[in-house]
Amino acid sequence: MAATLDTPTILVIDDDDDLRYSLKRVLSARKYNVIEANSGEAGLEMAESHSPDVILLDNRMGGMSGIEALQHLRGANPNAMIILMTAYGTTQTTIEAMKFGAFDYIMKPFDLKKILSLTESALAASSDMDRASQEEPIEGVTAEEIEGGIIGSSSAMQNVFKMIGQVAASDVTVMVTGESGTGKELIARAIFQNSLRAQKPYIAVNCAAIPDNLIESELFGHEKGAFTGATNQRIGKFELCDGGTIFLDEIGDMALATQTKILRALQEGEIQRVGSSETIKVDVRLLAATNKPLEEMVKEKTFREDLYYRLNVVRIQLPPLRQRMEDVPLLVDFVLKRLARDSKAGTKTISPEALSALSKYNWPGNVRELENLVYRSAVMAQSDTILLKDLPEELLAAVGCDITTPVPSLDDETLSNIDDRAQNVGSIEVPHVEASAEQGLVGLPGQPFTEVYQQLRDAHGTNILEHAEREIIRLTLEEVGGKQVKAAEILGMTRATLRKRMDQYDLQK
Ligand SMILES: Nc1ncnc2c1ncn2[C@@H]1O[C@H](COP(=O)(O)OP(=O)(O)OP(=O)(O)O)[C@@H](O)[C@H]1O
Ligand SMILES: [Mg+2]
Repeated sequence: MAATLDTPTILVIDDDDDLRYSLKRVLSARKYNVIEANSGEAGLEMAESHSPDVILLDNRMGGMSGIEALQHLRGANPNAMIILMTAYGTTQTTIEAMKFGAFDYIMKPFDLKKILSLTESALAASSDMDRASQEEPIEGVTAEEIEGGIIGSSSAMQNVFKMIGQVAASDVTVMVTGESGTGKELIARAIFQNSLRAQKPYIAVNCAAIPDNLIESELFGHEKGAFTGATNQRIGKFELCDGGTIFLDEIGDMALATQTKILRALQEGEIQRVGSSETIKVDVRLLAATNKPLEEMVKEKTFREDLYYRLNVVRIQLPPLRQRMEDVPLLVDFVLKRLARDSKAGTKTISPEALSALSKYNWPGNVRELENLVYRSAVMAQSDTILLKDLPEELLAAVGCDITTPVPSLDDETLSNIDDRAQNVGSIEVPHVEASAEQGLVGLPGQPFTEVYQQLRDAHGTNILEHAEREIIRLTLEEVGGKQVKAAEILGMTRATLRKRMDQYDLQK
């Protein structure tokens, strides 16, 4: 119940005085009754004495955290709609916020208009909803760190995280769909890890990897002598997983006969070992995933319609990476950091131009492709930075960023124009070499410095110093026939530095 029926009360819990002030100003302007607390502890007291309709709750505060406060608040104020505000938008926070019954979640810094509209929808929901049937918050369930991490700040992925939080704690069957490499397996695991069965077994079965004639025995077990080769009794995955969670991956590849058995296990909660008439009760939560178009398969009668409806209770549809390109830089960063952790080498970085190429690619293989590609490029890169040249040629070609295209050679007329201009601008002489198809930058006789600069800009966009350095070193080495002592002298660097640069720029030959 609201403190007053016609004036909704909004409680702002945040240790940031300025933010509380701004929020109070915009909310009071809407004629809401705004009350404040500067800590989680003070907020709990305020909530108890004022029964607010909506609570805007900061996550990062000295003392009790927002997530902790959220759990207490949900217990003590089941009627309040809580919006968690946080500057630290991690996957786990979003999942936990939803799991512990937050109405929604907003990342700081936010637009005041956005929080206002969120507050209004929370108020609308609070008056609409029959709260009596609301579930109690789950006490004492602390979600484990999601192993491997799930990355995504796009709104599409934030919605996925919210759904995980909402479905994790119930035993509902969840169907995860999406193109290959979008992270279905990762999502299934996150649901399990955040569920009440997190301490129970989790078994993932890849239905596509097991031959049709073996899958039944794999899932349900068999008796000794049930078929040729069944020399011993075998306990199946469903039985092994009693009390836990089974993830049927690639369920679209399952034979119709097996589908029937799965349906029964789901409907009756019981199974039969192959070759036995005894039924065994099993309590498993089922998660499933596929990249197959199940709806079409149902129409074509290659997937059982009844099983489809049974599995599709909650559907989490993962968007392909090309529809959430804002996640690309984050994912790249994540892969590089994990690589550094695993290889105990220093963290490699990526040049802005290489990242921009990755941000233009359409990623048919989704996150898996990105992961493999970044991994490979990091290993291939000679320096600590992944450069454009370290990316696979196919990708560069696909995004129209061909570093192997030689700079167009200049005709005589242009050359003489350049020579004319060279009278007026400071110019450096670059030793003459034949234009080579592998080179991004071609030295031309008498070319003025500004022209070289322009060509570097056109050819590479950014990091031009690095490209220029590579080229100057290459030309010098060529001039002196590869004699490093001489080249180092001309370049004005020590031989050790020259060697390092040669490694870095792959100038061994
Ligand atoms: N959001 C994400 N954050 C971090 N890593 C991710 C994310 N999504 C996917 N990955 C990584 O990408 C790879 C592919 O993910 P996963 O195996 O879950 O894909 P899938 O959807 O099951 O693909 P398939 O249909 O081919 O089985 C994994 O290594 C996974 O860790
Ligand atoms: Mg998979």
